[in-house]
Amino acid sequence: MAVKDMKRVFSGVQPTGNIHIGNYLGAMKQFIELQNENECLYCIVDMHSITLPQDPKQLRQHILDVAALYMAIGLDPKKSIIFVQSDVSGHAELSWVLTCNSYTGELSRMTQFKQKSKGRESAPTGLFTYPVLMAADILLYDTDIVPVGNDQKQHIELTRDIAIRINNKYGKTFVVPDGKFVKSGARIMALDNPDAKMSKSAENPHSRISLLDEPSKIKKSIMKSTTDSEGVIRFDVEHKPGISNLLSIYSVFADETVEALEARYEGRGYGDLKKDLVEVVINNLTPIQERFKEIRQSQELLDVLQDGAERAGVIAEATMKRVKDRFGLGWK
Ligand code: AMP
Ligand code: TRP
Repeated sequence: MAVKDMKRVFSGVQPTGNIHIGNYLGAMKQFIELQNENECLYCIVDMHSITLPQDPKQLRQHILDVAALYMAIGLDPKKSIIFVQSDVSGHAELSWVLTCNSYTGELSRMTQFKQKSKGRESAPTGLFTYPVLMAADILLYDTDIVPVGNDQKQHIELTRDIAIRINNKYGKTFVVPDGKFVKSGARIMALDNPDAKMSKSAENPHSRISLLDEPSKIKKSIMKSTTDSEGVIRFDVEHKPGISNLLSIYSVFADETVEALEARYEGRGYGDLKKDLVEVVINNLTPIQERFKEIRQSQELLDVLQDGAERAGVIAEATMKRVKDRFGLGWK
C-alpha cells in the first residue's frame, strides 16, 4: 500500500432530491473544512439511490443537482475529487468481494434496513446489501476518515469489521477507516415531529428545510414547527425536543453556542426565536442558492465530474488489483 502524507477522506450523498439542512449541518459542512488539509473524495452515490425505485430522468437531474450543490456549499474541485459512483466500476466489483465476506446476521441488524423494509414481506436485496456497497465505497480508496451524520455510525462499524476480517484472513488489504461526526447538528430532527430525524423522503415538505427552498417556504416551515407548551427557551432534548432542535440549527448556522442563545432568549417567547431563526437560515442559504443556479447551468460542472471520475478511477484500479491478488481472482 502506498504511503500517504495526507489523510484520505471519503463521503457520499444520495442523489434522491430534497437535500436538506440535516444533510448539510450533519455531514456536508464538514466536507468543506476537511478539504484544506486532506485528500478528499466526495461522491454522488447514485447506485445507493436505486435500492428504492427512482424515476430515471429525475435521477439524472438529481445527480447533477448534488454535484452542483457540493460546489455551491464550497467544495473546490481543485482540492477535492468530486465524482459519480457509477462512473467508477470498482465500487460494484469490490462490493461483490465484500458481500462474500459479510454475513446475513450482521446485515439483518442494521437499523436503516429494518426501518426501510418495515412492513414489507420481501424487500429488495439491494436494500439489504446497501451497507456492503457503502463499505466498498470507503475501502476502495484506502480511506482514513469518513465524515457522516450520526445515522451512519452502524454502517461505519460494519465497514471496519469487514476490513479487519479480510485483513486478518488475507493479509493487510484495507485501511481501517474512522467515522467523523460533528458535535452539534449530527442529528437534525424533523420540524413537524422532533422525535424523528429530518429526512428527504418524509411526506410533509414542512418537516424539512431543503437547501434550495424559497425564503417564503423556509419561513412557513420554521414558524409552523412543533415545540411545546412550557414557553421557556432551554436546551433539553429529552423534555423539549422541538426547541432543542431549533436551538441546534440556530447554533450551527449562526456559529454561536447554545448557551449564548439560551441567555439571549431568556424570558422571550418561541415566536421571537423562530422569527430570528428564519432570518439566520435564509441568510445562510441564499448565497448557496445563488452559486447553485450559476454552477448547475455550467459546462464546468460536467468537466468536474469527468475529471473526478478519472482521478477516482486511478485509485480504485490500484485497490482492485491488490484485492484480486489477495483473493487469487483472475490470472494476471
Ligand atoms: P443521505 O441523504 O442518506 O445520502 O445522507 C447524506 C448525509 O447526511 C449522511 O452523512 C447522513 O448521515 C447525513 N444526514 C442525513 N439526515 C440527517 C439528519 N437528519 N441530521 C444529520 N445528518 C443527516
Ligand atoms: N449511506 C449513506 C447515507 O445514506 C450514503 C453513503 C453511501 C456514504 N456510501 C457512502 C456515506 C460512503 C459515506 C461514505 O447517508
